[in-house]
Amino acid sequence: MDLLKISDFSASEIFELITSGIRTKDRLKRGIPYTPLEGKVLGLIFEKPSTRTRVSFESAMYQLGGHTIFLSSTSTQIGRGEPIKDTARVMSGYVDGVMIRTFGHEIIEEFAEYSSVPVINGLTDMHHPCQVLADVMTITERKGGLEGLKVAWIGDGNNMANSWIEAAAILGFELSVACPDKYCPDEDVLAWAMEKGANVKICVSVAEAVKGADVLNTDVWASMGQEEERAERIKVFAGYQINADTLKLAKKDAMVLHCLPAHRGEEITDEAIEGPHSAVWQQAENRLHVQKAVLERLLK
Ligand code: CP
Ligand code: NVA
Repeated sequence: MDLLKISDFSASEIFELITSGIRTKDRLKRGIPYTPLEGKVLGLIFEKPSTRTRVSFESAMYQLGGHTIFLSSTSTQIGRGEPIKDTARVMSGYVDGVMIRTFGHEIIEEFAEYSSVPVINGLTDMHHPCQVLADVMTITERKGGLEGLKVAWIGDGNNMANSWIEAAAILGFELSVACPDKYCPDEDVLAWAMEKGANVKICVSVAEAVKGADVLNTDVWASMGQEEERAERIKVFAGYQINADTLKLAKKDAMVLHCLPAHRGEEITDEAIEGPHSAVWQQAENRLHVQKAVLERLLK
């Protein structure tokens, strides 16, 4: 089994992962060793930069008794054009699982097709499932679950937004997305979610999306690989920000999420990220715990 996108799992499987992530976090906090992946090796392929994803996967594997091998595209034959399908078949003979961070989603799909070991998506241009699992875990810890909650997505309809839409379709919570016209989430992801009867709405204004929301969620205006569009995006996205005013429209106990890294003063203010509503540090930490649950599920 692979984890390429949130919709690779059912609601009950996601619930099990979150429960397992919470259990594993508790075990770690209490200093109880847990090493079910002894002798297992996870290959990590990064074609884009990372802090959280790399460190959390490496720590997760070590703490579970396994090992990792870090590969950047520039230091491997992938960077010199060796076909993905060849790399996938070769690596399958060496490691027990592969985590990949890359550009086009079709790259990881091709890798998974040719790999005989589980493949985990550590972010593509289209999806970021591990992050959204950590987000769901954080909301579960703070609010007991997502049932009956309204989540607002402010800003770019990017990989994070697409994974959030899939989560809304599977888990059944309300998701309101406020994005500039030409920067809406992926049409196919949206159509798939609507067909499933998802409670997802594309809103005309930030105010409409955040009104009465329990969770305010955003991400950078220009993602990795979009550096050349940055100047244009800064103009288009002005106003798509989590700040004191947007927080006033949300529920009193609303929580603020950001997958990080953040650009303070753009999609979120310093006040919002550092303030009492922010759950971003807990959210970042939970990458470690929920990914342990994913690794145990896929590699054991
Ligand atoms: N949120 C996230 O994936 O962070 P990194 O880019 O640092 O891995
Ligand atoms: N949307 C961002 C997420 C970074 C974790 C990007 O793809 O760069």
